[in-house]
Amino acid sequence: IKKIAVLTSGGDAPGMNAAIRSVVRASAYHQLECVGVYRGFQGMIEGEFVDLDARSVKNTVNRGGTFLKSARSKDFMHKEGREKAYANLKKNNVDALVAIGGDGTFTGATIFGKEFNFPVVGIPGTIDNDINGTDFTIGYDTALNTVIEAIDKIRDTASSHDRLFLVEVMGRDAGDIALNSGIGAGAEEILIPEEDMGTDRLLESLKRSRKSGKTSSIIVVAEGDQIGKNIGQLADFIQTNLTEYEVKVTVLGHIQRGGSPSCYDRVLASRLGVGAVDALLDGKSHIMIGVQHKKVVQVPFEFAINGEKEIDKELIRVADIMSI
Ligand code: F6P
Repeated sequence: IKKIAVLTSGGDAPGMNAAIRSVVRASAYHQLECVGVYRGFQGMIEGEFVDLDARSVKNTVNRGGTFLKSARSKDFMHKEGREKAYANLKKNNVDALVAIGGDGTFTGATIFGKEFNFPVVGIPGTIDNDINGTDFTIGYDTALNTVIEAIDKIRDTASSHDRLFLVEVMGRDAGDIALNSGIGAGAEEILIPEEDMGTDRLLESLKRSRKSGKTSSIIVVAEGDQIGKNIGQLADFIQTNLTEYEVKVTVLGHIQRGGSPSCYDRVLASRLGVGAVDALLDGKSHIMIGVQHKKVVQVPFEFAINGEKEIDKELIRVADIMSI
C-alpha cells in the first residue's frame, strides 16, 4: 500500500484528534501518503478529502473533538452511497482506510471492506467503552474524568441542601461510564442496564442509608438503564416515597463528549494509530486495533461488534460495599 485514508465517524470522543495524528505520523514514518476524509463516511461519498502530512497534525494531540469532523451517514447504509465512496477512494489513489469510531462505524466499515475487497482497519473511539475485544476505547477515560468533576460539584450543593440528586450519564446501552464514575465520585447507588435493580430495591436501599445517617445522596443513572430511562418519573417516584429528601435531576449530556483528552486517552490513541498502520502494512484487514491487558491487539470486526462485552462484576461488588 502507498496511500492511507483516515476518517472519524459516529459520536465524537476526546482523543480522536490524537488518533488521527498518530495514523498520519505513522504513515509518514513508513513513507506512506495519508489523506483525511471529512465528516466520516459521508465525506467519503461526497469526496471531501484533504492531504495530511506529519506537520498538518501539529497542535492536535491536546484538542478535543475531531478536526476531520464526524457524522452518522445514512447514505453509506445504501449500496449506491458506498459505490460513490469507493469511486472517490480510487480517484484519490487510496489503497487502505483507517476508520476511527464505534460499533456503527465498524459495521459500515465491515460491509464496505467486504463489498469492494478494500483493506479497512478500525480504531475504537467512543466515550461509551462498549466495544468488545478492547479493554478501553479512546475518549472513555476523559469522559469519566469529566463526569466525576461534575459530580464532585453536584455533591457540594447536594450536601449543603440535604438533597438527593439523580445524575444521568451517557453510555448508550452500556453501563461502563456510570459504574466507574459512580465509584469514583462516591455515588450512593449506580443504575446500569447490565443489572436490573428494580425500583423497590432502590427505595429500600435509600431508606436504609437515610436511617444510617446519610443526609444527602447521589445516584448515578446510566442513560440506557431501564428504570432510569424516564429519569423524571424515577425522581417523582423517589420523592413520593422518601419525603425526607428533596429530589433533583441533573442530565450531564454532551459535556461528556468534549474537552481536552486525558493523558491516558492520548497515549492510547497514539498506540492504536501506530497499530493500525502496522496492521495495514502487514496485509491485515477487517480488524479493529484494541488494547487488552496493556497490550495492543488485533480483533476481527465481527467480534468487536457482535461479541458480548460483560460488565465487571467485581466493580459492582466494590460499588455495593462503598455505599454501605
Ligand atoms: O456514542 C456516544 C454517545 O455520546 C452516547 O453515549 C449517546 O447515547 C449518544 O452518543 C448521543 O448521540 P448524539 O450526539 O447524536 O445525541
